[in-house]
Amino acid sequence: MKDSKKAKARVEELRQLIRHHIYLYYVLARPEISDAEYDRLFNELKLLEKQHPQYIVPDSATLLVSGGVAVVAEGFAPVEHSSPMLSLDNAATEEDVREFEARMHRILPGTTFDYVCEPKIDGLGVALVYEKGKFVRGATRGDGRVGEDVTHNLRTIRNLPSVLRGPLAQYELLEVRGEVFMWKAAFQKLNRYLEEAGESPFANPRNAAAGSLRQKDSGITAKRPLDITLYQLGTATPPASFATHWEILEAFRESGLPVSREVRLCGDLDAAIAYHREMEARRNEIGYETDGVVLKVNNLDQRMTLSSTTHHPRWAIAFKFKSQEAQTRVRRILINVGRTGALTPSAEVDPVEIAGATISRTTLHNADEIARLDVREGDLVLIERAGDVIPHVVHVVPETDHKSRPRFRMPPRCPVCRGHAYRPEGEVVWRCSNAACPAQLKERLLHYGSRRVMDIEHLGEAVVYQLVDRDMVKDFADLYHLEVESLASLERLAKKSATNLYEAIQGSKRRGLSRLLFALGIRYVGENVASLLAQHYGSMDKLVGATEEDIAGIYGIGPRIAATAAEFFAQKENQRVIERLQAVGVRMTEVTAPGVKKILAGKTFVLTGALPAMSRDEAKATITRLGGRVTSSVSKKTNYVVVGTDPGSKYDDARRLGIPILDEAAFKKLIAGG
Ligand code: IVH
Repeated sequence: MKDSKKAKARVEELRQLIRHHIYLYYVLARPEISDAEYDRLFNELKLLEKQHPQYIVPDSATLLVSGGVAVVAEGFAPVEHSSPMLSLDNAATEEDVREFEARMHRILPGTTFDYVCEPKIDGLGVALVYEKGKFVRGATRGDGRVGEDVTHNLRTIRNLPSVLRGPLAQYELLEVRGEVFMWKAAFQKLNRYLEEAGESPFANPRNAAAGSLRQKDSGITAKRPLDITLYQLGTATPPASFATHWEILEAFRESGLPVSREVRLCGDLDAAIAYHREMEARRNEIGYETDGVVLKVNNLDQRMTLSSTTHHPRWAIAFKFKSQEAQTRVRRILINVGRTGALTPSAEVDPVEIAGATISRTTLHNADEIARLDVREGDLVLIERAGDVIPHVVHVVPETDHKSRPRFRMPPRCPVCRGHAYRPEGEVVWRCSNAACPAQLKERLLHYGSRRVMDIEHLGEAVVYQLVDRDMVKDFADLYHLEVESLASLERLAKKSATNLYEAIQGSKRRGLSRLLFALGIRYVGENVASLLAQHYGSMDKLVGATEEDIAGIYGIGPRIAATAAEFFAQKENQRVIERLQAVGVRMTEVTAPGVKKILAGKTFVLTGALPAMSRDEAKATITRLGGRVTSSVSKKTNYVVVGTDPGSKYDDARRLGIPILDEAAFKKLIAGG
């Protein structure tokens, strides 16, 4: 009795919470919780209603398309959909998905199903109406029954055809449904732009897409990088006669309606599960946000029989990915000192598992970011770990105690050397002003020895920290004066390891000018710029003697890089380190294979996707060796985009901008002359 009373109270609480969050999500486009948290609430309610069916009410969120909240905001004309735009049922595990198929087998015993699998794009559902092939009206999903008329805004989406061609152009009336979304790269660019303009940035691509599509002024929407993909056929007059969903998607493509490149026809459930696994592994490379895949029965007759509940079709399921978010508490805010003296804050948090890894530290980027998030020690925060992105705080979870905790301030001194901390004009980072700060030296040495730089194996953190703390190394050149005996005196370094380390250090003398320039840690001189400088000058002497104007004249090097490089070589301390490196025999010229023709000189490349027979580093090295340049984003100045399997959004950028696209074979042909 007591239990059931508790359950009743919780059911009511959940219902209210869910209504509130639906309102924030759909009406205000400013959600306060993540989708994963929303799903948790929703699933808890579903479970409680299953255990206590007496508490189900007709307007429960679990029965309605939306939670029974009117979600049409003022200012947009309401549009009634020809049939409800339903939600999808969720599956979190393989077991859930097998149960989904078992449910269908209970309705259609002995039937085999094939599935169309699609990414579940995290955007905004829309319905579009075409009359005789002309786009006439488009609406948001709204509460599933009635949406908002956003026709004029949809017209600004560049890949949405205003006129259909091919098979679908003939229909008197045709309704198609899909998702409006924003690519992650475009979203980041938009946020940078908004911040520069003094406006508040969007929390994620979905909010950015929703906010942009629901603009009163289409002029603003037109400037927003929205994209659309279609995945469902609604009503058609005269009625359409497709037999499968796959045929529909093909007709979409032929008519010019964009369909996701990731859709796949799977012969059975095992193939669909394999698709889910593959997409989950690639989810961070796809270029847009997706939290799962949708499995849809392909055969339309089977769908008719299976039919729908008031909430979702029985022939489809959203098979979610593992959540990449979790809540945890901030223990302390710490400051890390980088090799350029940058003071970077991070949060030490209560350890929490996200997508298979235990997280106890997250980056906080810089003081501005902390101020924006208003993170304070002791706060409950939502953190996200997405693939190769460093775990970061998404937002602070509202709590009444938050305000009583002290606001975070950057410390006035470097936490390691107590040197004066300052924020240079026009920069977001704070820096330690002490060039001799041991923390900076440690980071510089670690960079110097890392694999892509001077490649000194065994020169790890434990060794570097001791070398600096015992005053055995004060600059790069000191490394080469270390003897086996002195290395063997370090803690946890046996004679054998000391010999290996000694040999690795000596071996690094032969790396060549390009790697050495990267190793010196000159600001803005990364791998690419170092290689351009090395190729242009060929030797350190020539480079040290070059003027700023001279350096700025190199193709691919801008004035800011030229100024910092020239300033670096003009400084006495730096010249002295270079002389000492030279004296111990560190190679000061570029290692180039004889007879290489610079056939790619002046050409800029962007690489995307995996090349079948060549690693990305190899392709990059080849391009630079032949005088070309590799950049990370596609612009009008890009000459070629080399595309492998599973390319990211760069492929789409290239197509949009009409940049020549090369596959591996074409790329090999191009470089064959070098
Ligand atoms: S099918 C009745 N396919 O997810 C079938 N929906 O949670 C419903 N979504 O409102 C739509 N990607 O906005 C479908 N490939 C996809 C989807 C997708 C994203 C969204 C859609 C829908 C929501 C349901």
